Amino acid sequence: MSKTQAVQHQYSHCPYPPLEAGELPGILPPASSWEFAHYYCSHQSTNNRAPLILDAGCGTGFSTLKLARANPQAQIIAVDLSAPSLSLAKERFKQANCSLEQIQFIQADLQALTLNHQFDYIYCTGVLHHLPQPRLALESLRNHLKPQGLAAIMLYNPHARQEIRAIQHILHSLWHDKKDLQEGLMLCRIFFKGLPEAHPFSQLYQKHQAVITQELGEKFAHSDAFLVDTYLQICEQEWDLRTWWNLFAETGWQILRFNDEESWLPAPYLPGLPDYYQQLSWRERCCLIDPLRRDNNYLFFVGQNSQNWQQPTLIFTEDTIPQRSPLIQVSLLADGYLCLENRLGKKLELAPIARQLWEQIEGQDNWKTLIERCIQPSENSPNQLIQALKNCAQQLLQGYFVWNSLN
Ligand SMILES: C[S@@+](CC[C@H](N)C(=O)[O-])C[C@H]1O[C@@H](n2cnc3c(N)ncnc32)[C@H](O)[C@@H]1O
Repeated sequence: MSKTQAVQHQYSHCPYPPLEAGELPGILPPASSWEFAHYYCSHQSTNNRAPLILDAGCGTGFSTLKLARANPQAQIIAVDLSAPSLSLAKERFKQANCSLEQIQFIQADLQALTLNHQFDYIYCTGVLHHLPQPRLALESLRNHLKPQGLAAIMLYNPHARQEIRAIQHILHSLWHDKKDLQEGLMLCRIFFKGLPEAHPFSQLYQKHQAVITQELGEKFAHSDAFLVDTYLQICEQEWDLRTWWNLFAETGWQILRFNDEESWLPAPYLPGLPDYYQQLSWRERCCLIDPLRRDNNYLFFVGQNSQNWQQPTLIFTEDTIPQRSPLIQVSLLADGYLCLENRLGKKLELAPIARQLWEQIEGQDNWKTLIERCIQPSENSPNQLIQALKNCAQQLLQGYFVWNSLN
């Protein structure tokens, strides 16, 4: 059995994610919206409300349903290697009362994709690190992207997975027949049951169970599919950011922005060393932060490196220009508070001070002049007010209610 066949075998016997049809949390991740991704990466609103989207490695269609909800007019093609996962994905769509005209499910290997389409947006989360040859997949995905198209990529952060990798190594060494997932599952359950409670791996397992139960339910946390995907995984590349970055560059991609940009800033990790890190390029800075920034996976947006991409910013700096996001709805609550909701389902009630900022945003040269305009004599000191307004600005930016552009 080839490595790709082994991955197919694993996900055909244990489709992932093991979520029952019909379940979808209220808040959609920003990256599931093509309009968001387009604005975030190019700093321009798109006129294309009906993009062609590829969900590359769609699994049981949970990510696909999020894409359908966040992009109601899109045409979506969802590809996976595992036929049982695709069947569950179709069922998920039926139960969610989504039009099946919007979506096409195709069984194919991303490492040798030959679809007769060029996509505006490719969404590929939790997949590339499970491929024996990610390079081939990156090449074929890039060949399926329109020149100005974008892709959102989620990859494991190997620094956050060292203990999981150690557990995988132990279980793999004990496991006789890797095709026999029931044997692997039996070993896994006996292993965790027998470990002393104080052992770090036991603690990690308890932590996973608690977090997954809270986020996705107890059934998910105890499911075969979760145990197989996490502790018995047949193929997991342990690549760090630099390795991925090189691979993307070599296959014609350019990393444009991280989804969680704040966590890639050096200042919180290296407060005494700005003179040193400021001399580094953005790429070198990110690679430096990579082992310091422990928890989150990598989630970033990429485009073809033959294109001319400018670098906008969502991070608050006083000299950037604030602009209301095109993705929001505004409503006035009975108590006079203003409520903003973006199309991804995220809500924010604006306190009076934030409301002032919000109402005066249009036509300002930059955040500094906007904040100065909003400061009025009060009992608070000007410094306290400035800080409060800056906090509001951060909150608006982080919730994607406001965009930022450079002069
Ligand atoms: C961890 S799941 C992620 C599912 C989905 N993207 C999500 O975020 O919920 C990984 C998926 O990648 C699929 N996969 C693995 N190798 C593949 C390949 N070579 N071609 C297509 N799909 C593949 C698996 O079948 C599995 O459904």
